[in-house]
Amino acid sequence: MDKILILDFGSQYTQLIARRVRELGVYCEIRPFRLPLVDIKAFHPKGIILSGSPASVYQPDAPLCRREVIEQGVPVLGICYGMGVLGHFYGAVTTRAASREYGRASLTIDDTADLFSGLGSGLTVWMSHGDKLEAMPDAFRRLAHTANAPFAAIRHRTQPFFAVQFHPEVAHTDSGKAILGNFLFRVCGCARDWQMHSFAEMAIDRIRRQVGNGRVLCALSGGVDSSVAALLVHQAIGPKLTCVFVDNGLIRKGEAVQVDQAMGEHLGLHLISVDARERFLTRLKGIIDPEEKRKIIGAEFIAVFEEESRRLGRFEFLAQGTLYPDVIESVSVQGPSVTIKSHHNVGGLPEQYDFELIEPLRELFKDEVRELGRELGLPDVILWRQPFPGPGLAVRIIGEVTQARLDLLREADAIVEAEVAQATLNRELWQAFAVLLPIKTVGVMGDERTYEHVIAIRAVTSLDGMTADWARLPHDLLQAISSRIVSEVKGVNRVVYDISSKPPSTIEWE
Ligand code: XMP
Repeated sequence: MDKILILDFGSQYTQLIARRVRELGVYCEIRPFRLPLVDIKAFHPKGIILSGSPASVYQPDAPLCRREVIEQGVPVLGICYGMGVLGHFYGAVTTRAASREYGRASLTIDDTADLFSGLGSGLTVWMSHGDKLEAMPDAFRRLAHTANAPFAAIRHRTQPFFAVQFHPEVAHTDSGKAILGNFLFRVCGCARDWQMHSFAEMAIDRIRRQVGNGRVLCALSGGVDSSVAALLVHQAIGPKLTCVFVDNGLIRKGEAVQVDQAMGEHLGLHLISVDARERFLTRLKGIIDPEEKRKIIGAEFIAVFEEESRRLGRFEFLAQGTLYPDVIESVSVQGPSVTIKSHHNVGGLPEQYDFELIEPLRELFKDEVRELGRELGLPDVILWRQPFPGPGLAVRIIGEVTQARLDLLREADAIVEAEVAQATLNRELWQAFAVLLPIKTVGVMGDERTYEHVIAIRAVTSLDGMTADWARLPHDLLQAISSRIVSEVKGVNRVVYDISSKPPSTIEWE
């Protein structure tokens, strides 16, 4: 398979570059800009893309790769800061632009060979930079310009080294994908050979070789990521895989049974279900602070999982459904981002474990994981399950988590899920769920005064969970959800709809 290497200098768009390259049918991986030359050579890239960065090349501590990385004989494309990196080695002058450029710009194409082949004479492109190339190195010539950027695209006169100041990877750049496609196919000579089917075969083969005669343990949450990871490992090594599902009592209605049926009975995985409901509830008694809830649930999960793995004997490997975005965050050149919430995943086990990790989804995005799951025969109930936080319903109960409040929320949530599914909106929405508020309000039911709980409905659209908008649900649907909750869930007399986007709010309430 032809492969492209993306060296990450910390741009918020690096993942988008990877997306576009894969959409074009070429396999790629993102690696930190410091990746040693031997590792780069071992990867055998057909081309290298240098990402953007919040840094400036003229800063004393600017992130830079070595010149040998550029000059190892494969084509290179520098994007935004990547242009500065490329220029840096050939005597270019990059300075702080008098006026920073963000948003749309009109690009005039001066040379329609290679990168801009088939794209006419002008394009609207998306700029996001504070620096600009002031003087072009002698070894390079200009391919395109804008009013503010005299060298918006350049190429080396004799080597296949290209750079663009704008961002071809963002959707706002006209023909951005065609520009990347020209780099991949015309310049690098890549074949369009990245398909989920070949990825599955490759991953299964890799797992077999890694595991040998060992045993693998997998913490199954019932979510799509851990389920696909487990299924892939299962197809590679069969009964040598043991999955553990911890029912912490904070999961959605019917979830434990669904996981058991889909993964155990239907797909034949060796699945151990642990009933830890009582333990979690006891530990959560009296806790109202969201961060404290998250930390307790994370720690308790690890304790249960550890006990269970000890009981089941020796395992050399641990399979996890770590996704690409999780990996990328950990190689950020700027260090970890600020903690908004302490996320808890079943994969978040501490480092002291003596397991070798198997992370077959490390190179995939969420929608690619779904495609892989479909390829492997994962049933729709799991495949299309909405994202669900590790701490589960506990972070949707504002205030203390008690059995009664859990039961109430679980019922309300099941109604939201059922009605949204009935309206065939579940695949359009990122999430739709119920939240239990810590207040009571007055109502009137059958001539009687009531004083009962309030349920908030949260439904959002999102591409990746990083930003989100509240979903414009049809009024009829909201009406159906509201009347069903009030009439079917005892103790609720009011339903409200959350109309906040993220930012400034978050998707979950805690
Ligand atoms: P927020 O609430 O931060 O959530 O806007 C963004 C997305 O992440 C999910 N979420 C979690 N997922 N472990 C997870 O695996 C967690 O601890 C966690 N907390 C929130 C949330 O449901 C949304 O999809």
